Amino acid sequence: MSKIKINKIYKESCLETLKKTPDDFIDIVITSPPYNMNLRIRNGQYCSRQIVKELTTKYQNFADNLPIDEYFEFHKSVINELLRTSKIIFYNIQIVTGSKRAFFRIMGEFYKELKDIYIWDKKVAEPAIRDKVLNRRTELILVFDREDGISRRFRKANFNRGTLEDIWQIGREKKKNKEHGAVFPQELVHHILKNFSDEGDLVYDPFIGTGTTAYVAKLMKRNYLGSEIDKDYHDFATKRLKNSGGLF
Ligand SMILES: C[S@@+](CC[C@H](N)C(=O)[O-])C[C@H]1O[C@@H](n2cnc3c(N)ncnc32)[C@H](O)[C@@H]1O
Repeated sequence: MSKIKINKIYKESCLETLKKTPDDFIDIVITSPPYNMNLRIRNGQYCSRQIVKELTTKYQNFADNLPIDEYFEFHKSVINELLRTSKIIFYNIQIVTGSKRAFFRIMGEFYKELKDIYIWDKKVAEPAIRDKVLNRRTELILVFDREDGISRRFRKANFNRGTLEDIWQIGREKKKNKEHGAVFPQELVHHILKNFSDEGDLVYDPFIGTGTTAYVAKLMKRNYLGSEIDKDYHDFATKRLKNSGGLF
């Protein structure tokens, strides 16, 4: 018997939730981990260690400015556990100063399981934080599948040949709440679930924040599972799931 309950958001690190999760238990993962936003850079300037410390306290249980090797090792552990427990993984990472080197290492480390890469085009670029840096209009979604890594063919897909492109144009979510600065647009989750899952499937988000993945999954008659380390986000997401309303 599995020790894990579904249709629940666990208030703990995803590595704890994953420990309880049997092999191949999850149908699809959709997630956006912290980007290691490197709080050392504020308004285009490096700031002092003291300011970093003060800013970091706004997160209760994790630092968003890990040394790059630690940040990489953390992702390596999470992705290995996701590959053990899940059939397909959509892993959205933004390339920022704090994540860049880890991001490229992840691609090398998991080159066998990296099935494809989707480009999420947010339609409008964010201005660069300093000179000689590109404005950023896109984010990348790495798709991992531990089986059949050579082929680009998905094990499960609901779209017809020739109808789905690898660039998804979806604008940023309009700020509906002040709870979180980096929420998924509901449309992005809807798009992935529609094309790569069925009703009754189990959808997991290991970094669930305000609960967007579970919220859309529930509306689309999928089961959900989430982990969130921060108490306030956890409580917000749990309440949001209880009061879930219409889509978009
Ligand atoms: C980029 S946000 C996700 C936002 C989410 N997609 C949404 O729509 O609200 C990343 C979240 O991961 C959480 N987090 C950080 N480390 C974690 C860990 N080890 N396990 C679970 N959650 C974690 C943070 O508190 C944060 O809310």
